[in-house]
Amino acid sequence: MAGRLANKIAIITGAAGGMGEASALMFAREGAAIAAVDLSEDRVAHVVEAIRNAGGKAIGIGADVSNSADIARLVERTLSELGVPDILFNNAGVDSEGKRPMLLIDEAAFDRVIEVNLKGPWLMMKAVAPHMIAAGKKGSIINTASIGAFIAASSAGYCASKAGLVGLTKVAAVELGKHGIRVNALCPGATETPMARSQRQEMEAKGLPTSNAIIDRMGVLGRMAQPEEMAAMALFLASDESSFATGANFVNDAGWMAMSGVSMHSG
Ligand SMILES: NC(=O)c1ccc[n+]([C@@H]2O[C@H](COP(=O)([O-])OP(=O)(O)OC[C@H]3O[C@@H](n4cnc5c(N)ncnc54)[C@H](O)[C@@H]3O)[C@@H](O)[C@H]2O)c1
Repeated sequence: MAGRLANKIAIITGAAGGMGEASALMFAREGAAIAAVDLSEDRVAHVVEAIRNAGGKAIGIGADVSNSADIARLVERTLSELGVPDILFNNAGVDSEGKRPMLLIDEAAFDRVIEVNLKGPWLMMKAVAPHMIAAGKKGSIINTASIGAFIAASSAGYCASKAGLVGLTKVAAVELGKHGIRVNALCPGATETPMARSQRQEMEAKGLPTSNAIIDRMGVLGRMAQPEEMAAMALFLASDESSFATGANFVNDAGWMAMSGVSMHSG
């Protein structure tokens, strides 16, 4: 298939919904063969079907990205059914702390956020990059962090996991650069996905002051992003158009971080 990712093979984690699904569909439209990974194969069946119905190539794989045995199996299936990946999009993430203040977060919830959001991308890079190197692929790895890596935009473990992922991304970029593999962090602001919807519902159920209207003001454009607006930046990072970019943070937040000192400018 022709396109910006023609003849490329991409693994996308968390591909069942939100940004992962939007990216799988967009990458496939641009010619990539997709290994769509999520917690179960059933969850990604609709994505695989949509890609195949449009004439693209995709497989669905059920795997937990915090589990190295699952990862070994997902890499094996990708290699045997699609080939050596050119693109690894570590998009899967959780925000399982229930928006509690730091002092009230359960230890298990904190651990889970770190396991999925930080250890997961490390395990995935550890399993996938050696195959890219052996095949001489000038690969692109994209790790989805968050603006929560830089500002206290979410709960403690979540922000810590994303800040850790930004650090991990830099080390990976430095260590893999000599093989021609680029590694960058995509740092979204508020995006209209199942994760964002459930956060909003949890906060509203607790009477916390996060109405749709407040979330929509987190940025200067007066709205949340659509998942496709994050997928478009991931596509740029996956493609050769970003050939000079590595070890960098790509913030896509409609100015939410720029607004941190907005009170002096309001009105
Ligand atoms: N939505 C936002 O506002 C926002 C903002 C900043 C960053 N992010 C990040 O963007 C990424 C995508 O988020 P989203 O909003 O599309 O979320 P989402 O919840 O809609 O999608 C995440 C997907 O990851 C999958 N997943 C969760 N744990 C997994 C695991 N252990 N193994 C495999 N798959 C797993 C889920 O099943 C789900 O399909 C996440 O890393 C998230 O932290 C989201």
